[in-house]
Amino acid sequence: MRIGIFDSGMGGLSVLHEAISKLPDQEYYFYADTKHVPYGLKSEEEIKGYVDEIVRFLLDKKVDAIVIACNTATSVAVADMRKKYDLPILGMEPAVKPAVEAAKGDERILVMATPVTLREEKLAKLLSRVDVKHRVDLLDMPKLVSFAEAENFDSDEVRDYLKERFGRFDTTKYSALVLGCTHFNYFKPLYKEYLGENISLMDGNQGTIRHLADVLGLEIKSDTKLQLKFNQPQDVVVEGRITYYDSGDEITDNERLSKYMRMLNRLEFVRNI
Ligand code: DGL
Repeated sequence: MRIGIFDSGMGGLSVLHEAISKLPDQEYYFYADTKHVPYGLKSEEEIKGYVDEIVRFLLDKKVDAIVIACNTATSVAVADMRKKYDLPILGMEPAVKPAVEAAKGDERILVMATPVTLREEKLAKLLSRVDVKHRVDLLDMPKLVSFAEAENFDSDEVRDYLKERFGRFDTTKYSALVLGCTHFNYFKPLYKEYLGENISLMDGNQGTIRHLADVLGLEIKSDTKLQLKFNQPQDVVVEGRITYYDSGDEITDNERLSKYMRMLNRLEFVRNI
């Protein structure tokens, strides 16, 4: 099957990474809209326009399904896209439900996302449905998107930012941190430094890929250990194939492909944290 996956940028690679490790034999078209990243600080109208263009681009590639690997774009545009186009379009949802269900006593849940995701109605509706005990606190983390794009995963600058943002909360009260933006996966080791080793880090990637497998009638494989080699992107998958696009421009040069490989390697490194 042909599967289109897109994001504003490098965050979507975390969804692609989950997809190729659970559904390794498919053909993937990965689109990062790096010309327009970050979406999380843009208007709804702008984001809807970008998303529509990308969906049409992927339809031209004859994909069987599209995954919007971006919480921000999902919040703003998934409903319109499903009305407009006749193929399965899956989105991301912050993993608030499993986090709330696992919480005990007076444990609290911290949900991080972009400013757009936090102010959209989709999240408000999700919270009113699942956060019945009002355990959830919200935190916007827009700078992590640009840090991820710059492969700046572990510098003093990132640490100072996390310290300042988490410093607004009593960090001893949280049992789970929900990563409500796909760019946030790259920083997993640091969250544990600030919120403690026992904090559960929850993202929506596994749920989305399970859902994708259901929709397309595919069988989930147990985690494929990815053999990632710089400059050899096709080695990422055993039998399938990935084509990368940078805002519509197919990536064929080693410099940009190497960046994707470094990012996927980072995701492999943080996978089980
Ligand atoms: N990766 C995206 C998300 O999941 C958005 C990042 C951005 O472009 O602001 O929300």
